[in-house]
Amino acid sequence: MYESMAGGTATGVTRLMPRIGDVAPDFTAQTTHGEIRFSDWQEGKWVVLFSHPADFTPVCSTELTELGRRYPEFQKRNAKLIGVSVDSIHSHLAWVQNLSRIMGVRIPYPLVADSNRAVAELYGMIHPGETTTATVRALFFIDPKRSIRAVIYYPLNIGRSVDEIERVLDALQTADKNGVACPVNWRPGDKVVVPPPKTEKEVDQRLDADYEKLDFYLCKKTL
Ligand code: BEZ
Repeated sequence: MYESMAGGTATGVTRLMPRIGDVAPDFTAQTTHGEIRFSDWQEGKWVVLFSHPADFTPVCSTELTELGRRYPEFQKRNAKLIGVSVDSIHSHLAWVQNLSRIMGVRIPYPLVADSNRAVAELYGMIHPGETTTATVRALFFIDPKRSIRAVIYYPLNIGRSVDEIERVLDALQTADKNGVACPVNWRPGDKVVVPPPKTEKEVDQRLDADYEKLDFYLCKKTL
C-alpha cells in the first residue's frame, strides 16, 4: 500500500507514490500488444502512461477511444501511449474489439493487463479512499530519460481532457527545448515566460532585451 502526503494507511510494504522528478518505475507486463519490458518498449521516446478504472465502462470507453483518435498527434510529438487497468488480458482484448465495433476506433496503443496489480502498486494508481478494487484515472508524463515530468489524477467519474494532455506535452517539450516556462493557459504559439534573473547583471541585461516586460521578474517573449 502507499503512503500519501495525507498520511494514508500502510499495510505491509510502505512505498511513496512516484513523484515529479522520480525515475519512472520499470516493469514487465502482459499487454494487448504482447509482453513488454517498459524501459525497452519506451524506445527513448516520451510516454503518456495512464490508468483507467475498468474495461467495458462508459467514461473509460470515451477516454480510450479519444486517445486512439488523437494517436497521430502524440506520434507527431514523439510520444507513445500505454494504458493500464487491473482487468485481464481476455477482458482487454474483448473490449478493444467492442470499441472498434461500437465507436469505430481501433485502439492503436497497448493496454497492460495488470490483474495482480503490480503496475498499479508501483505507480500508486489505487487510491483506497476512492476505491480499493480499481485504479483511479492516473496519468504520468514520462520523458525520454524516464524521468516523471508531470502527473494528473482524476476520480472514477470524471473523464480527462485529451486537449490538456496534449497541451502539457507541448508545454514540457517547449520548456525543455527553449529553457523557458509556460504561463497560465499557455498554448503553442503563445508567449513564454523567461526564467527570472539570478544576478544583478542578468537584471540589467533584461532591460535591453526585446521582451514584454511587466516587471524585472515577469518577462515574456515570443519564440
Ligand atoms: C466509467 O468509466 O464510466 C466508470 C468506471 C468506473 C466507475 C465509474 C465510472
